[in-house]
Amino acid sequence: MAVMRLAGLLLAGGLVLSGLSLGVASGHEESDAAEGSRALSEAGPPPLDPQQVEAGRKIYQKYCASCHGARGEGQPNWETPNAQGELPAPPHNAEGHTWKHSDAMLYRMVSEGWRDPFNKTRHLTMPAFRDQLSSDEIRDVITYLKTLWTPEQRQFQWEETQVRGGFPAPSAASTSQPDGARKQNAD
Ligand code: HEC
Repeated sequence: MAVMRLAGLLLAGGLVLSGLSLGVASGHEESDAAEGSRALSEAGPPPLDPQQVEAGRKIYQKYCASCHGARGEGQPNWETPNAQGELPAPPHNAEGHTWKHSDAMLYRMVSEGWRDPFNKTRHLTMPAFRDQLSSDEIRDVITYLKTLWTPEQRQFQWEETQVRGGFPAPSAASTSQPDGARKQNAD
């Protein structure tokens, strides 16, 4: 569709020859789409919404900083299981690995809670926030975390989100507690 519209524009602009060759190319919609998404990822992640960042920063200080640190620095020795055999809260800044997860995955971790599968206990060391935070608030706090990453990490996380999925659509998210997500975390 975009190609057709572009071809139309070019034709309208009098570039009949380019218009014709685009008309031929539009017969291969798939390769056009692939080229489109590659061009998009080269362009880099879209800028963060400053209002979401600011809202997220406040939520972070209130609900997350006690474990993950005031500046997202995490707990000491976060890579080593503690005396209970549980992993301490990791950093969310450039030293951690939060940036390796897609928006969809980060949303699920915050909403449903999380524990490393190799923890010795079954305790949800990362608490579930779905009863305390709205879907918008979860999105905002994750948006704030993105300000703690390097441009390369932001780029990686953005590409990961293109492949593995973004935040739930507002309508789907408003009916909280998606059954599928809860089941996946239950074991
Ligand atoms: C009671 C302490 C505690 C609080 C409060 C807490 N977390 Fe966590 N969080 C953890 C722990 C511990 C882990 C690591 C769990 C594991 O891997 O076993 C974790 C893991 C995470 C992860 C996964 C990171 C990764 O790289 O795998 C995310 C994302 C996260 N927390 C976000 C948040 C956000 C956002 C908040 C505030 C809304 C928050 N956490 C509040 C303890 C906490």
